[in-house]
Amino acid sequence: MDIEPSFFETNPQAGAVGQPLDRVDGRAKVTGQAKYSAEYNQLPGLTHAVLKTSDVAKGRITGFDTSAALKQPGVLAILTHQNLPKLAKTPNDADGKKAIGAPMGFLPLTTDQIHYAGQPVAVVVADTLERAQHAAALLKVQYAAEKPLASYEDPKAELFDPEAVQDGKTKGHTVRGNPKAAFAAAPVQLTHKYDHAINHHNPMEPGATTAHWEAADRLTIYESTQGVSRTQKSVSTMLGLSAEQVRVVTKYLGGGFGCKGSAWPHTILTVQAARAVGRPVKLSLTRPQMFTSMGHREDQTQTLRLGATKDGKLTALIHEKTSTTSPWDNYAEPNSKIINLLYECPNFEASYQLARANVMTSTFMRAPGEAPGSFALECSMDDLAYELGIDPLEIRLRNYAEKDPSTGQAWSSKSLKQCYARGAELFGWSKRNPKAGATRDGRLLVGWGMATASYPVHNSQGTARARLYADGHAVVQAGATDLGTGTYTVMTQVAADALGLPVDKVRFELGDTKLPTAPNSGGSVAAGTVSSSVYMAVQDVWQKLIKAAVLDKKSPLYRAKPADVEVKQGRLQLKADPKKGEEFGALMKRAEIGDVEGNGQGRYGSGYEDAQAAANADPSKKDEAAHHSMHSFGAHFCEVKVDPELGTVRVTRWVSVHGAGRILNAKTARSQIIGGSIFGIGCALMESTFRDPNYSRYTNASLADYHIPVNADIPDMTVEFVEEHDPYINAMGVKGIGEISMVGVAAAVANAVFHATGKRVRSLPITPNKILETKAASA
Ligand code: MOS
Repeated sequence: MDIEPSFFETNPQAGAVGQPLDRVDGRAKVTGQAKYSAEYNQLPGLTHAVLKTSDVAKGRITGFDTSAALKQPGVLAILTHQNLPKLAKTPNDADGKKAIGAPMGFLPLTTDQIHYAGQPVAVVVADTLERAQHAAALLKVQYAAEKPLASYEDPKAELFDPEAVQDGKTKGHTVRGNPKAAFAAAPVQLTHKYDHAINHHNPMEPGATTAHWEAADRLTIYESTQGVSRTQKSVSTMLGLSAEQVRVVTKYLGGGFGCKGSAWPHTILTVQAARAVGRPVKLSLTRPQMFTSMGHREDQTQTLRLGATKDGKLTALIHEKTSTTSPWDNYAEPNSKIINLLYECPNFEASYQLARANVMTSTFMRAPGEAPGSFALECSMDDLAYELGIDPLEIRLRNYAEKDPSTGQAWSSKSLKQCYARGAELFGWSKRNPKAGATRDGRLLVGWGMATASYPVHNSQGTARARLYADGHAVVQAGATDLGTGTYTVMTQVAADALGLPVDKVRFELGDTKLPTAPNSGGSVAAGTVSSSVYMAVQDVWQKLIKAAVLDKKSPLYRAKPADVEVKQGRLQLKADPKKGEEFGALMKRAEIGDVEGNGQGRYGSGYEDAQAAANADPSKKDEAAHHSMHSFGAHFCEVKVDPELGTVRVTRWVSVHGAGRILNAKTARSQIIGGSIFGIGCALMESTFRDPNYSRYTNASLADYHIPVNADIPDMTVEFVEEHDPYINAMGVKGIGEISMVGVAAAVANAVFHATGKRVRSLPITPNKILETKAASA
């Protein structure tokens, strides 16, 4: 008996799951009824806070002149490090950081120290937003400024290996086989350096907090976050309250991409401001403040050495990464993980180093590690293909990993060959001219490139609740967040099928710490975890109703063994004789059961595999308990047209094919892959935040100057999924798709640019100046 019955078995027929259902929250969004975290304007006595931030990146605050600001009408408080109410714990405390949660390792307004430009130095609260803004402008802050460091590129920057710091000897290396010797002996040796600009997440909705103290020990926060529970834990820890005294609500989110995956200073500062003025306080970050308040993808350089045989088989991969971090944090995107497993290669080594600079800390951003790591690997694989005169798709097939090279484990499922084949067919890859710089459309150069995508199944678990009413409707709940990607919709579909109800009879609720705990919507775990939790909660409902039926004298199932009863499309029936049974509604009405509530825990990843193995324990099959390696895979195909005189690149065709387990909604899944691919195209061609090397300030902190793709930059995109059945990952067979969509995208574009121009640009973004400056390869 499986500990978690599988959706594959209980719902063999196609139902709502998989259908391209319109978003259930679509109407609320387009009519403005959907309430985002900065829209709780009816709270009694709501006040407004703005952050005063430092223009200086390093130094100390030597004084404030608050007199003019405090005289303004409507001003309620000016909080600084001199008068911020005391917190039980801050991330500055030795034991605080872990409890509060990375990456907030430093809380402003607790010291006179300035560590980065844009650091909040005061919170100004007034009865209207405009009055708060005006008072903040009048507030004068004096600094003793010092010369800051801006990045690892500064000659004064000190590089360190963060894993070596802990025990005094270098440990920050992953080594398999004998990579240095294998590289030295390789008939083909490629060594290339890849640079990556600073990227900012820039979700449409900025970070925003509305804090409402309902009593001295009871707080509700309407927060723009990817995880209500994580925010609850961070804030309650800092305040010294128990978790249930802090309620966090996020009904709608306007994107996150990782920057809303952690608690950040503005949230607790708003909570403190609300405590100080004794009224609800709303704070919404400005767009410029978004560049210094919620992390970014770090400036980084990678060196990849690739050794191969003359027939294109990899023999060694050696990867090094250097990036900038903040004065208090050691975060670095784990780029090497994907390089370690994407292709069969017996010898591998990775190391990384950091330099501290006066910057806000970097954090995870969509496909952290996989996106920049795949840029280096997939460009070098393209180089290898040209070097040997082998088709770029063929070179990948020659190095296809039949099992996970980094662990030796079998894959739980892998449909990459089908993705390659279908993508190539849709794109017309076989018609590609193998020669670079040889295809033209009028005066434009035409290039075709491709790359592989992969993203792991990160272990996760969560809970959900389902309440089924006798009249045939249901309310299903989990404290998940919907980033805008469709969580409301797909969970409605899962619940409807599991309950045997039409989707319009099911309401799915999320985004509240009062609901059962779900994981952060991050790491692409939400769909796989929450769908399993919902499914398991419904199984609990059925178990309770089966028990009621077998005890009910009037039921056709009276005195049956519960284990002999199954539920199909809402009908309780004997497995051996399905004609014997009844609808749940008939049973509930007759037995006067108004509603039944079930709870369930869903597991995603190796925890699910463990649970199944435990349930099926057979001592003679010990090996089956070994875990599978769990990943999604896919392939991108790109056409670009490059203006040889201007260096401008336009993406003119796009095909992505992914294998990601069961697809819960064909429409929202397609949208998510399109969104991720556009995100990747932005990273490839446009997105870059410039940090001034002298002042360590961002010079383009606005959406006018930080370019992201708009509709006119993007062609129609072709997105498909291959059918993939994975019984090892969770009860639903669902893998996440939020991040794989951008893995390999920058490389596919760069490879297409090379094919168009013969110029290899290894620095993101690929802007016109870089194309004009780069010499064409002689190959
Ligand atoms: Mo995502 S970068 O895991 O929120």
